[in-house]
Parts: sequence; C-alpha cells; structure tokens
Amino acid sequence: MNSVAANARRQQLAADPHRPRYHFTPPANWMNDPNGIIEWEGKYHLFYQHNPHDAVWDNMHWGHAVSDDLAHWLDLPIALSPSPGGPDEDGCWSGCTVNNNGVATIFYTGVQGDWAIPRNQRVCMATGAGDLLSWEKYAGNPIIAHPPPGLNITGFRDPFVWREEQEWYMAIGAGIRDIGGAVLLYKSKDLLGWEYLQPLCVGDMHDSAPVWTGTVWEVPQFFPLGDKHVLLVTVWDSDPLYSIYFTGSYHAHRFVPDAVHKLDYGDRHFYAAHTMKDSQGRRIMWGFSGEARSSDAQRSAGWSGVMSLPRVLSLHDDGLLAMRPAPEIESLRRERHQLTDIDMSATSGHLSLDLRGDALEIAAEIDPADAEETGLKVRLSPDSEEETTIFYDAPRKQLGVDRRRSTLLRDDGYADDVQEGDFELSPGENLRLRVFVDCSVIEVYANDRACIASRVYPVRSDSTGVAVYARGRARVKSIDIWRLSSIWASSQSSSAPRRG
Ligand code: FRU
Repeated sequence: MNSVAANARRQQLAADPHRPRYHFTPPANWMNDPNGIIEWEGKYHLFYQHNPHDAVWDNMHWGHAVSDDLAHWLDLPIALSPSPGGPDEDGCWSGCTVNNNGVATIFYTGVQGDWAIPRNQRVCMATGAGDLLSWEKYAGNPIIAHPPPGLNITGFRDPFVWREEQEWYMAIGAGIRDIGGAVLLYKSKDLLGWEYLQPLCVGDMHDSAPVWTGTVWEVPQFFPLGDKHVLLVTVWDSDPLYSIYFTGSYHAHRFVPDAVHKLDYGDRHFYAAHTMKDSQGRRIMWGFSGEARSSDAQRSAGWSGVMSLPRVLSLHDDGLLAMRPAPEIESLRRERHQLTDIDMSATSGHLSLDLRGDALEIAAEIDPADAEETGLKVRLSPDSEEETTIFYDAPRKQLGVDRRRSTLLRDDGYADDVQEGDFELSPGENLRLRVFVDCSVIEVYANDRACIASRVYPVRSDSTGVAVYARGRARVKSIDIWRLSSIWASSQSSSAPRRG
C-alpha cells in the first residue's frame, strides 16, 4: 500500500469510536511488534509487524512510518514483504535496524515452512536506500541458517544487533527444552559472518519467583542504562504472556542478572517491547498493545493493534526501571482544566471533573493519607453504568485497572477483568498518576515506576467522563486534564520524505 492509499484507509476507519487518535495504529488491518526503530537523518523511523491484507496475525510484513517529533507519524510504503521461494516466504518476522557506516541495515527473522519449528526461523538481512523508502534483501540470506548445534532449541527468532568497539554483537530470542527462555549471543566483524559465542542469559522455567519467565523468550533488547545493563524479553509459552526486564552486570560478554520484574502490568497490552537510542542519548521504548476482544470483532473492525506511547527509560536508585512518556507527547495538549487542593472527604469521596472526552491526558497528584483506595475513573458514563477504574489499593499494595464495568458489550470476548501488580508508596509519598485515555486505549504511569497498558471498549457515547475518588481520607493536591489532539490530521501533509 502506498502512502496515499494508506491515508485513504486511515480516513475510512477514523469514525470508529474505538480507534485511537494519538497512539500509533497501522493504516488498516493487523499490527503487532514494533521493529527496527531508528533515528535517521533527524527523523524517527518506526517499522512494525504488519499483515496488510487482514486484521489477523498472518503473512507478516514490515510496515513503516516516519516522525519528526515522536508524536505525529506519516505512513510510508511497506518496507519488507515475504519473497515467494525465499527464506522469508512465510513471513518477515521481528528484528532490528542498525546504521552500518551510513547504510541502514535490517536484521529480521525469515520464516519458511511451519513457523513452530525453530529451524524454520532464520536470520535474514536487508539494506536500505538512503531515504529508507526501499529495501534490498541480501542475496545470501539467511545469514544465520540454523540454531547452534547441541542445544535443544524450542524457538529461535528476533535478532537484536549492537556494536561494541570494533565488533558487532547479536542477541537472538530462544528457548531451551526443559530449561526455559534464553538469549543466544553471536558476534561478527562484518555483519555477514556470525560466530555463536554462548547464551547471554538463560531462564529457569521451573522457578516462578518473583515472576515466571516462561519457556521461550522473544524479541530481546540489551543495552547499558545508568550503571547497569538491562535485558528486556517477552515471555512466551504457547501464547504471548508478558514482557519482563532484568537488570544486571555485563562482563566478558556474559550478563549476570541481579533482579527481574514485569515491564508493564498490562501484560499482553504491552508486548514485544522495542527500544532505540536517539541522538539526544535517550533510550526510548515502545510496546505493542493487542486488542482485548475476539478475533471476529477485530476483523469486523478492520484493524487490530496499537503502539504504546514512546517511553523514555532510566534507572531509579533502587534499580527499578523508570518509564516516562516522551516529553514530545505534550505537544498534543489542547484545552486544559485544573483543580488543586481538594479534600476528598468534602466530596463524599467522588468528584466528577468538568472536562470530558475520549482522547485525554490526566495528571493527578493525590496524598492518599489513610485512604484504603484512591484513584481515577475514566470512560465514565453519567450514571456509572460504564466506567474504567484506575486504582491504588493501599492495604494490598496493588496498582490496577478494573475493567469489570468498562463496557456493556458482553459477547465477542471483551475483557472484563482486573489488571494489577505490586506497587507501594513510601511513607509520605504521594500517588502521582499520568493517565492517557485514547478511545480504546488506557495507558497508566504511576510515580514513574509502574505502568499498566489497557484496552477497553465502552459503547455509550456519553462514556467520556473523568472522576477522582477515594475510599477514606485523602487529599487531591492537583489534577490537570488536557484534551489531546489527533496525530493524523496534520501529519499526512508533513515534510517527512515521500517516495519519488
Ligand atoms: C512477538 C513475536 C516475535 C515474532 C513476531 C511474529 O510478538 O512472536 O517473536 O518475530 O511476533 O509476528
């Protein structure tokens, strides 16, 4: 699909009330993992797993979009498509992009034959024209034709490449039978010949504390951050489960983890995290948010999959990953409403705010005092028939999103659960929530150290309210709400490169 056709498809879907307006979506049809994100000549290029023909996971291509500012995107022509008879004839799966002396070079997973057989997942390469609008596959593909001998491998995919001094290194997501997820480490002098070194890290599928790390690790990302190294992987076990991160040390090409945590309590709504380092030195991460409704419902909507907002990473002193929305997203803020210093006992514990909408940012600082529970309600109908609750449960030390009343729709597998994870405020620490509401997307950031990505599908057109609530004594220090603008209206005429 060229950019004009992509834009036409986008316009057709724009009236869908569940279609996000400021989170990146494919022009139509299916999207999963972010792939190969790179800053190139001052612009951010986003690639993504894409089925351009249907809103189901199948027939993987690399979709492509470009941004000047990390907020607004312009659709570009598809970068990689399967080549009949080639090692990627059944799919161009996930991978990365590096800058090899001025030549953009993609490493991806070519799939040929039954994808569930690890031998059919092979590392392939393609190089980009200077404008990144066309890509040439390497004639000698695959560049890694099989998993290392001697390991009983249950998955072998998603190359992630980086440079260390004079050499290139590649991490490949894998699983070892009866042992667990693994990341395998390779090295190369020229990006073409690759030597297997050893596992960079291996999980233990027989141990579930503090978090079960599954049987296969997908889409590894490995990078220095602060004074540690971070390894991100997504945990797979017959199905995608969730993303995790290890922090640890890296010496002599071995990674020794010292801690592991879930990356986002939204599990499958923040999957296959991909990162890039930009020219400002920032490590920026995106994850893909799968739908929370049946595949029939996705097909009849005509689209599936949303990219998270870009999250800037750093490390807290206690070793937890700090995640903050990239400040560029603030450029989408429009009309604002603010309240300060509200004693929640004077409001019977519930205060509806004057600004309503389905594309909002909310920033709240709440002193939870001795309240058992505090938080926000969004996508709220006037009679609370539909509502999504973002809560901090102090006695249980949990942060969550309650979707039990998010939609009146009962068929088609619409999620109606509670997503939650460990979260504790230190004595005297206020709850600081930043919540992004974008039609069917809810993205929650709490105190820069816990995130929950969620998907909800309210049906009432008046489910646009926002309220703050508390069970017990609490004080709202401040709450700001902005209406956020669409990223598409102006971007399709931006100065981003066009073919021809
Ligand atoms: C992760 C993943 C990757 C694979 C891709 C296929 O979501 O399963 O391991 O390369 O998706 O679309």
